[in-house]
Amino acid sequence: MPRIIVTSADVEDMAHRLARRIQQFSRQAQDRPFTIALAGGNTPKRLYEVLSEGPYREEIQWGGLEFFFGDERSVPPEHPDSNYGMAHRALFSKVQAVVHRMPAELGDADAYEAVLRERVAADSQEVPKLDLVLLGIGKDGHTASLFPGTAGLQESSRLVVMNDVPQLNTRRMTFTYRLINAAQRVWILAAGADKREIVRRCLSAGLEPEHRAQWPVLGVRPSNGELVWWLDQAAAGTQ
Ligand code: 6PG
Repeated sequence: MPRIIVTSADVEDMAHRLARRIQQFSRQAQDRPFTIALAGGNTPKRLYEVLSEGPYREEIQWGGLEFFFGDERSVPPEHPDSNYGMAHRALFSKVQAVVHRMPAELGDADAYEAVLRERVAADSQEVPKLDLVLLGIGKDGHTASLFPGTAGLQESSRLVVMNDVPQLNTRRMTFTYRLINAAQRVWILAAGADKREIVRRCLSAGLEPEHRAQWPVLGVRPSNGELVWWLDQAAAGTQ
């Protein structure tokens, strides 16, 4: 499946383009909801806010969507670092949606994997095939909570793990490559001039294993799905 790059003028433009696509997905849902795993961090915040505002708030069929989280910090939802907390303030406190919080502070990755296996139809390898996984990218090339040099990069069987991140002196719960790469769509969001260099390096790097170890986002290669990089002009270096 080819890699697609979509460049938006800025974060606001990107948020509206993404919101329009999610609105379309919500209306396509037939016998089961369209399943979306959300990214954390700051980049997707404007998208979540846009989804909570008119016209999307009214136009989206919220019953046609079901939300998960691709990673979470080991903090309770009310903690300022919580990805769930950010998404709840931006979106889920304003709409009626089915949301599966990732309780990383409890440390039970297998329990979250069980929720995914229960709620998401599996592919031929018995891996839940999410309809859409949203990801961000750090300046070090990490994505979700798959950081350079961490054990989570080597996990080839489990779908969700608690990953020790020594560079942040913490543990985080995260999707593994096996789950991410089973998705129908994986969209990587990057915005701002501070992401320009890592985006340039990753988009120009080969697929050699050493590149994936150095920049974990390069391990995101959907086996039977689309990969789209959503960039603003500042991150794309076209501004
Ligand atoms: C997290 C995210 C992480 C994030 C990148 C980019 O829990 O922080 O899942 O992977 O997407 O760190 O973060 P920003 O969007 O804040 O630059």
